[in-house]
Amino acid sequence: MCGQDRSGLKRLVLTLAASLIGGSIVFVVGAMSAGEPPGIVPRVTGTVQPMDDHAAPPLARPVTDDRRKMRNYPEQPPVIPHAIEGYQLTLRANRCLDCHRRQFTEGSGAPMISVTHFMDRDGQVLADVTPRRYFCTACHVQQTDAQPLVPNVFEDMTAAKKSLQ
Ligand code: HEC
Ligand code: HEC
Repeated sequence: MCGQDRSGLKRLVLTLAASLIGGSIVFVVGAMSAGEPPGIVPRVTGTVQPMDDHAAPPLARPVTDDRRKMRNYPEQPPVIPHAIEGYQLTLRANRCLDCHRRQFTEGSGAPMISVTHFMDRDGQVLADVTPRRYFCTACHVQQTDAQPLVPNVFEDMTAAKKSLQ
């Protein structure tokens, strides 16, 4: 019993020492790289001087072509392919569910929210949408015609798998 306690203490001291050494290595490396100029950091403000008065650039236009986009991976929340401007999404009103709720999809032609949207955190399937998935736009977003600030090198997993073969 006593021996076990002592070896536990020894392990604790060793772990503490290891994390102290690890911490100082990170600190030294951090300090070394601090002097280097930053790589590509795109300027969100564009080419104008940040402190000058200038008109705000127009907002990018949302893509509303009603074509459901392929998902980049199976668990991706699908992007919204239609207009959602003015749709109320509050504690009392949820415009999205007026079309996407199970009971209304026949009339609206909208895809039903999937079964995961009915599950509580214990995996229990509820009769209606779970509070965890009530605020749709926390996960589902529209796309716009904005140009990306940096090139996107994302590769679909099937393409990535092919390049490994
Ligand atoms: C007037 C009915 C209606 C309302 C309101 C509505 N939708 Fe839709 N939604 C549709 C229809 C119909 C589609 C099928 C594609 C299309 O026609 O645009 C769709 C498609 C989608 C998709 C794509 C599904 C997929 O598998 O690709 C998402 C995500 C979505 N809607 C989310 C929302 C969210 C979030 C809201 C609320 C902000 C909302 N919708 C409000 C009718 C509606
Ligand atoms: C916590 C994130 C989250 C929230 C909040 C959420 N969703 Fe989803 N949604 C997802 C994910 C992830 C998927 C794809 C995998 C799945 O079905 O769970 C999805 C799938 C969908 C689909 C496609 C269903 C299918 O079978 O093709 C629709 C339609 C949809 N959601 C609508 C909604 C609507 C409407 C709301 C609001 C009531 C909502 N979602 C809230 C994450 C979310």
